[in-house]
Amino acid sequence: MKQRVLTGITTSGTPHLGNYVGAIRPAIAASREPEVQSFFFLADYHALIKCDDPARIERSRLEIAATWLASGLDPQRVCFYRQSDIPETPELTWLLTCVTAKGQMNRAHAYKAALEANLDAGEDADAGITMGLYSYPILMAADILLFNAHRVPVGRDQAQHIEMARDVAQRFNHLFGQGHDLFVLPKADIEEAVALLPGLDGRKMSKSYDNIIPLFEGGSRALKEAVARIVTDSRAPGEPKEPEGSALVAIHDVFANAEERAAFRAELRGGLGWGAAKERLVDVIEQQIGPLRDQYADLMAHPEQIEEILQAGASKARAVAKPFLESLRRAVGLRPMRASLQQAAMPTAEAADSAAATPVFKQYRESDGRFYFKLVSADGELLLQSEGFAEGREAGAWIKRLKTEGAAALADLPALNAPAGRPALEQALAALVAAQDA
Ligand code: TRP
Repeated sequence: MKQRVLTGITTSGTPHLGNYVGAIRPAIAASREPEVQSFFFLADYHALIKCDDPARIERSRLEIAATWLASGLDPQRVCFYRQSDIPETPELTWLLTCVTAKGQMNRAHAYKAALEANLDAGEDADAGITMGLYSYPILMAADILLFNAHRVPVGRDQAQHIEMARDVAQRFNHLFGQGHDLFVLPKADIEEAVALLPGLDGRKMSKSYDNIIPLFEGGSRALKEAVARIVTDSRAPGEPKEPEGSALVAIHDVFANAEERAAFRAELRGGLGWGAAKERLVDVIEQQIGPLRDQYADLMAHPEQIEEILQAGASKARAVAKPFLESLRRAVGLRPMRASLQQAAMPTAEAADSAAATPVFKQYRESDGRFYFKLVSADGELLLQSEGFAEGREAGAWIKRLKTEGAAALADLPALNAPAGRPALEQALAALVAAQDA
């Protein structure tokens, strides 16, 4: 089965080198692997949690979209969309919210940090903390689980959120899966080398610390200016310098190859001045970023092209999300009303009889590599024969729907082949539904 890789970037700031090496670059590399299906999105609902400046949200969405595209994302190959264009995401958020323990959210790092900051400042513990911040990990779990992502490339600071998504997925599977997994359990994909790229002051590069090096915005001039502000020790040119632990060297590392890294260290130990070292750093970053700048500028000048790409991405994403969310709604009991439900609520001898002679579904794989299922009556008569599906879970999902919805689901089947006739098939399905609900 294809591995699904998914990641999002919160659209509350200007993309910086940390976003590029920590998320964008590895995600685009992963999207080019042959057996991978990728979902990359702009986490603009998450942005609303941190930012109440509409102009900044708007600007950031544009910059981040242009950054992904200029960095080599291929929207034909990848599903590239805005979180806020997928109404199934907030809908799933609610389903997950209802099975998430409050105590678990109390332990989320971002919330705990805000709480501790309040207490340190002598404020009320929850001062200024919104429900958005508190529930942030649930929205993120919905992003991931809606597309059943296997791998989620993120920075180390997001690892806890992926763990929380796994937990809530497990709980949902347990409560509503009836022995089948509704959700894939996601795994964080953390590039250890770049998990926490330092910023100008040596702390993690982050817009909240105001220590970033912009990726494209401001052009090569802004890059040079930012690099000039990287904090170093005060050793003069000619004095030997310790490369390990220096933010400048750590940033150089993620843009350089092994040879360049070793040479840079040797030169610093040999007395290379910090000023010259900064020029070296600018050069190595420019080698990668420089060639992408023109496309970035071009995209920024044509927001309507980006809009079109994102709209197309949203329809691709919703083609996956919509039917899946529909099945989740049914799993929790938000189902169309039907007569068989009422009957099932009152088990009768008749229902028990028909259950004893219940027809059975069989799922199998043919030599053509496709997955099929059929429904066979208690005495071996073929009642329904499916067409072939590319994935086993598709066939499984149909069986599940037919068992819970009965004949009502037949209308949606891509091809209907009922060798024993429609009435016999409908009768058999009704018996199955009754058995299921009893
Ligand atoms: N919370 C992530 C960050 O700030 C962004 C994000 C939102 C995300 N939803 C996601 C990342 C889903 C990966 C998967 O970096």
